[in-house]
Parts: sequence; structure tokens; C-alpha cells
Amino acid sequence: MGYIHYILSYFFLILMVVVSVKAKGYGGSSQQCDMFTGKWVVDESYPLYKPTSTCPFIEREFRCEANGRPDLIYTHYRWQPLSCNLLRFDGQDFLERMRGKSIMFVGDSLSRNQWQSLTCLLHSAVPNSSYTVARVGDVSIFTFTEYEVKVMLDRNVYLVDVVREDIGRVLKLDSIQGSKLWKGIDMLIFNTWHWWYRRGPTQPWDYIQVGNQVLKDMDRMKAFERALTTWARWVDANIDPAKVKVFFQGISPSHYNGTLWNEPSAKSCIREKTPLTGSTYPGGLPPAVGVLKGVLSTIKKPVTLLDITTLSLLRKDGHPSIYGLFGSKGMDCSHWCLSGVPDTWNQILYNLI
Ligand SMILES: *[C@@H]1O[C@H](CO)[C@@H](O)[C@H](O)[C@H]1NC(C)=O
Ligand SMILES: *[C@@H]1O[C@H](CO)[C@@H](O)[C@H](O)[C@H]1NC(C)=O
Repeated sequence: MGYIHYILSYFFLILMVVVSVKAKGYGGSSQQCDMFTGKWVVDESYPLYKPTSTCPFIEREFRCEANGRPDLIYTHYRWQPLSCNLLRFDGQDFLERMRGKSIMFVGDSLSRNQWQSLTCLLHSAVPNSSYTVARVGDVSIFTFTEYEVKVMLDRNVYLVDVVREDIGRVLKLDSIQGSKLWKGIDMLIFNTWHWWYRRGPTQPWDYIQVGNQVLKDMDRMKAFERALTTWARWVDANIDPAKVKVFFQGISPSHYNGTLWNEPSAKSCIREKTPLTGSTYPGGLPPAVGVLKGVLSTIKKPVTLLDITTLSLLRKDGHPSIYGLFGSKGMDCSHWCLSGVPDTWNQILYNLI
């Protein structure tokens, strides 16, 4: 009798393990599933919110439809990983799980893009729930009052500091005083990249400081790596993983050179209406991705990379082009229309928490 009991309980133990592994694979747990390798498929149940009607506060910069973009097929795509399924974004569940907590995006306008997407995804899920929007210095704060959830944006394009000194504005690769705004936040999502190659009138610094050396300029990729390393050391010294979840929003790609997607006549993303088919990008990854992954591998604390580069590279159709901030006077193939690609970045974030 005892022997049979033993066999039976052993059998059930194995059964339970099998069932839980299967359930995880289906739900898309981070250990089981590579969420970042997949393809874009048309799904008429997307988009998850509609600009103006269910998300009235989208900024002009990302509001492509209202700015006159005529084609809307690009809003009907869903990201399908090859080896598992992602859970659909459930805004109410997200808010319940984050009740009483704060989320902060830190970075440049690509962070603003993802921040806006998240506020839209959440608001459209609970349209009758009250919210407030406030701005304190460089920090924008969107609060879901009933859930006591704050979704914030700290505009900080380099993560390290730019300091005004007698000689001019100095980009200090080893200084990260801006981090004082990140204290006490429950979830941090960092990003920096697009400003590192800025030159001319829109470059927001005059000198660059590495250690004790003050230089007029230096190799920009090396500067990026040094700043990321400063940030990585900050994470190791300051983050308590029991209290704070840290993510890095990966490198968001631009589409200005059609040679990279086998359309050499294309000089920008204008008139691109569909994603690339398949799972790989002919032009390969931007070199910054390798630098970022190298630095992340040196961090001892847990930091999760939202490795969104490849899935976004496939979306040559997702940018505002002439339906962005400057209309036909601009050509924006760096930011993303909303609704659109950053909704998928947030869906993956949801699947990771
Ligand atoms: C929100 O409120 C409106 C008007 O009171 C109501 O018609 C609608 O069903 C509500 N929506 C949700 C999702 O509760
Ligand atoms: C576009 O990419 C190709 C392949 O890397 C390169 O040879 C070409 O110089 C690029 N064109 C521009 C305008 O940057």
C-alpha cells in the first residue's frame, strides 16, 4: 500500500511539473520563451486603443492619424514570437499589480514615445478611472488616482550629466547626479542612444569630460560606452533588487536608408505601409546594440533588457515620416506613431513583470 502511494505521489509530482512548464511556455515566461524573435502578423483586434477617441492626450509628435496619415494598416499588426505567445496587454491587470507603485521612464524622446504608449494603453483600459497629469522640472507625472499608480518620465538624454561651467556646457561621462530623481521609484526603464551622434547647433554640450580630461570631442561610441558604464556602476551601488525592478529599453532603430531593407531607392520611411516579412533584418543590427549588451553583461544586479531592436527594425512602416511634429517640413523616421510599435514594447514589458 505504502509503495503504491509513493509511486502515485511521485507520478503526480512529475505531472505537476510538466503542466507548470507547459503553462509557462504558453504564457511567455522569460525563462522559457524568446519574446524578441518572431514576426509581425495582421490582427484585426489591434490596435488596443484609438488615438483621439480612446487616448485623447497623444502628443502631436506621435499623433500620425490626426496629422493626416492616410494608411492605417500599420496599426493592425501584432508581434508573434516564434516559440510562444505573448499575453495580450491587460491594462486593468497591470494597474492592479502596480497598485500604489511608481514607474519611471528615464531617457530621450524614445522614452517619451514609450511613456505615452503606456499611459494610452492603461487609460484606454480604464477610461472612467480618474487621472492627473503634472510636470515638475524635467519630470512628467501621469497618475492613475484610484490605483495610486504613477507613470513618470524623466527627460535625461545622456543619463550622465551636462553641467554648465565657465568654459561652457560640459558633458561629464563619469558623473550621474541626475540619478537623485530615480530614488524611491519601484520600476525604472532607462534608455539613451539617439543623442550621442548629435553635432552642430543641436548638440547640447561644448566639451566632454572623461576622468580629469576635458576634451573638445571624442569617439562618440566610446563616449556612449563610458556613460553606460557609469550608469551600470550606479545600478550596482544603488539598486535593491528586492524593491526595484530595472529595465533598459533597447536601441530603437531609425529607417533612413532603404539599402538596409533591400529597397535601395528608399531614402527614408515615407510611403512605407507594411513591415518586413520574416524575422531578420537584412541590414543587421546597429553597432550600439553590441556596446549596450557588453555593458549590461558587467552589471551584477538584475537588469532586464527590452531587446526591441530587431522587432522594431522590421517596422519601416511604423514611423511618422511627414505626419509628425513638423509635418511636411520634417521627415521623422526615428520616433513611432501611436498607436503603434511602442505598444508592443509595453506588451513585452507587461509579459516580463
Ligand atoms: C464609462 O462611463 C460611461 C458613461 O457613464 C459608460 O457608458 C461606459 O460603459 C463606461 N465604460 C466602462 C469601461 O466602464
Ligand atoms: C546605406 O547603407 C549602405 C549599406 O550599409 C551604405 O553603403 C550606404 O552608404 C548607406 N547610405 C547612406 C546614404 O548612408
